[in-house]
Amino acid sequence: MSKIAMTEEIPEREARAFDTDDGRTIFITQRDGAYYAYNNLCPHLQTELEFLENQFLDQDGEYIQCSTHGALFNVETGECISGPCLGENLEKINIKVHSDGGIYIEDSPR
Ligand code: FES
Repeated sequence: MSKIAMTEEIPEREARAFDTDDGRTIFITQRDGAYYAYNNLCPHLQTELEFLENQFLDQDGEYIQCSTHGALFNVETGECISGPCLGENLEKINIKVHSDGGIYIEDSPR
């Protein structure tokens, strides 16, 4: 388990990108006090999701949005609910928030 971020770095309804020890880019977002992490790869064309730094959410902060073709993803599940990859999922990263405010990656799927 390795520490990737601190909770204070990720405001509610915002997202931040981080590099993992094994060379991937992930992003973490906060919704209603819970944190969700995903691999930064759109299931449509395997491209990175953001166009501007840390811009992973739509204008209202309601959904995760791919900047390439506008696919929308549920924040809690990573499921694509609109766009060319409808029904597919972002790859979820299992994280744990510790009492010191550290966010730790639980396992590395690759
Ligand atoms: S690459 Fe993400 S919607 Fe097409």
